[in-house]
Amino acid sequence: MACSLKISSWKLLIVFLLASNSQHDDLYYADAKPQVPCFFIFGDSIADNGNNNNLNTTIKINYLPYGIDFPEGATGRFTNGRTPMDFLAEFMGFDHYIPPFATANGSDILEGVNYASGGAGIRNESGQFGTLHKYGARKVAVYGQDMPRCTLFLKSICAFNTASCMAYMTNAITLFNDGLKPMVAGLSHSLPDANFIYINYTGIMTSIFNSQGFNKNINFPCCQVTGTGNIFPLNCNRHGYVCRNRSQYAFFDAVHPTEAVYELQTRRTYRAESPTDSYPFDIEHLAKL
Ligand SMILES: *[C@@H]1O[C@H](CO)[C@@H](O)[C@H](O)[C@H]1NC(C)=O
Ligand SMILES: *[C@@H]1O[C@H](CO)[C@@H](O)[C@H](O)[C@H]1NC(C)=O
Ligand SMILES: *[C@@H]1O[C@H](CO)[C@@H](O)[C@H](O)[C@H]1NC(C)=O
Ligand SMILES: *[C@@H]1O[C@H](CO)[C@@H](O)[C@H](O)[C@H]1NC(C)=O
Ligand SMILES: *[C@@H]1O[C@H](CO)[C@@H](O)[C@H](O)[C@H]1NC(C)=O
Repeated sequence: MACSLKISSWKLLIVFLLASNSQHDDLYYADAKPQVPCFFIFGDSIADNGNNNNLNTTIKINYLPYGIDFPEGATGRFTNGRTPMDFLAEFMGFDHYIPPFATANGSDILEGVNYASGGAGIRNESGQFGTLHKYGARKVAVYGQDMPRCTLFLKSICAFNTASCMAYMTNAITLFNDGLKPMVAGLSHSLPDANFIYINYTGIMTSIFNSQGFNKNINFPCCQVTGTGNIFPLNCNRHGYVCRNRSQYAFFDAVHPTEAVYELQTRRTYRAESPTDSYPFDIEHLAKL
């Protein structure tokens, strides 16, 4: 059966789109049927939409002001409104957001499930891509890692050595992305009937942060973040102060972008605006193959 999957992460974002059999027009929102029959998501807090709420973890944000711009309020999304996965579901013509694994039930799984969990990483033994291909994944988008940004969180963990600390991380991430891109291309050849694409997340995010006046606000999260209970400033204070106009801010808390940034980012991952945004093509082409 045909389906669609996605992995997304603060450290690594990956989308899996399984085989699709429907053709659709170019409208972003209003398709009667989604472009892919199902959409599965793997990742961390960028994509999490409620999986951490009942997990034994300190990485839990199901309280206001998170979700302040989301119709259902604080759901476990690590931002003020929709996540990139919510936008992607809209762009691919789904009439609902992909439910979190924690609360998905019954036939939900036929249209996809979101397994993302805030704080998640990638383990050596995952063997992810081969296993997912075995279960039917045929359309997979893999997001590279974003470069370190001069956020409140990174400034804190880098303490007095911001420049060398950033350089160290930038080198490590460049090494990672430089290996990931050819690996993704190789999977399209080694796994039968499968298409994998690589999303240039760094390129897209850099371009967004450098435009729209966002850059000046990178150090200033929209919500109040004092680091209470954390070693470093990270998540919004529970019921703390929140900025009035969220769309002027790049970051909602000390780590996670605002819905405004996520929307711009997802538009470019869905429909590339530059030939370097995704390889060999964008998510829209992948979905419609
Ligand atoms: C939650 O995790 C902590 C740290 O790993 C552990 O000490 C504690 O027993 C766990 N609590 C439950 C209810 O599992
Ligand atoms: C399954 O989810 C739907 C809404 O998504 C809800 O109405 C229904 O009660 C749930 N069923 C069970 C058994 O939890
Ligand atoms: C993961 O694999 C790499 C490469 O084989 C190895 O260097 C690293 O130590 C492994 N990490 C863990 C946590 O096993
Ligand atoms: C990602 O995009 C940036 C900016 O457009 C570009 O400079 C860079 O070469 C791209 N990276 C890759 C791996 O293509
Ligand atoms: C919020 O900021 C955006 C972007 O600068 C601007 O277009 C919009 O008019 C502002 N909204 C309000 C209510 O001030």
